[in-house]
Amino acid sequence: MKVLVTQIIDDVGIEALHDAGLTADVWPGPAPIPRHELLQRVAHCQGIIAMPTDRIDAEVMDAGPLQVVANHAVGVDNIDLQAAHDRQITVTNTPGVLTDATADLTMALVLACARRVLEGHALVTSGAFEGWRPTMLRGMDLRGATLGIVGMGRIGRAVSERAAAFGMKVVHHSRTGGVPLQTLLAESDVLSLHCPLTEDTRHLIDADALERMKSSAILINTARGPVVDESALVRALEADGIAAAGLDVFEEEPQVHPGLIGLPNVVLLPHLGSATRHTRKQMAQMAAANLIAVLSGRLPPTPVLKESS
Ligand code: GLV
Repeated sequence: MKVLVTQIIDDVGIEALHDAGLTADVWPGPAPIPRHELLQRVAHCQGIIAMPTDRIDAEVMDAGPLQVVANHAVGVDNIDLQAAHDRQITVTNTPGVLTDATADLTMALVLACARRVLEGHALVTSGAFEGWRPTMLRGMDLRGATLGIVGMGRIGRAVSERAAAFGMKVVHHSRTGGVPLQTLLAESDVLSLHCPLTEDTRHLIDADALERMKSSAILINTARGPVVDESALVRALEADGIAAAGLDVFEEEPQVHPGLIGLPNVVLLPHLGSATRHTRKQMAQMAAANLIAVLSGRLPPTPVLKESS
């Protein structure tokens, strides 16, 4: 049997596929596989290891004999779960293994924004640093500040543990509990997003939500770009409606709203949440194990149910 892998992944994943007797067609990247290549190559494949950058919809599912879509990610907003369900194609993801890496990167953005790390770096490298000054680049104290978390799943909880160690007060809003979103927006000194992208969370942080935030607040997004209305965010940052934003994801990835580029009070990363060597190895292993299980007629370790979207 043949499977498509839409980017180069850690070797352990490819070795596992070979050991299971599967032929792997690996798209070499680095850019995402073009749509026509995806449709063409999937025609001969029973399984696919897909990336968050691949839109796996009914057209792709109908283009070949697919039995399984093993997403090399925890988020599955790139996959049409209803279409997969209708065609009895199993969808799997990689939960758990990337929780700590993503929570760590979230804290990197919190610290970079709160302590103005990039502005400091720019000052030093520009040659304009004239020496220590009591009023230079003053930031936000984390001890005593309120961290508002949207989405209290594995990653939200891991971020809240880390924030507690910094002396932050944590409040949250989620589908199943916490405070109302309006309260969270009004009270947070740092607002961090950890919800999946669904029709309910698309543009959850829009102009109205940004308006409700403190003008001293920092917005962090390591979830999915479209949870934030990026144009509204640019306007809020330009108008000092909020103080800063740390973004690892973008609405039209890999494009970044031109208004964000060049703003001094943003930290922009290229979707690095799970990008550690160990985590990416585990993700490759897990995606391969899921795919192999389904193609061997076994239950996959981490299936995604349509209802959980
Ligand atoms: C990456 O963004 C993931 O969902 O794992």
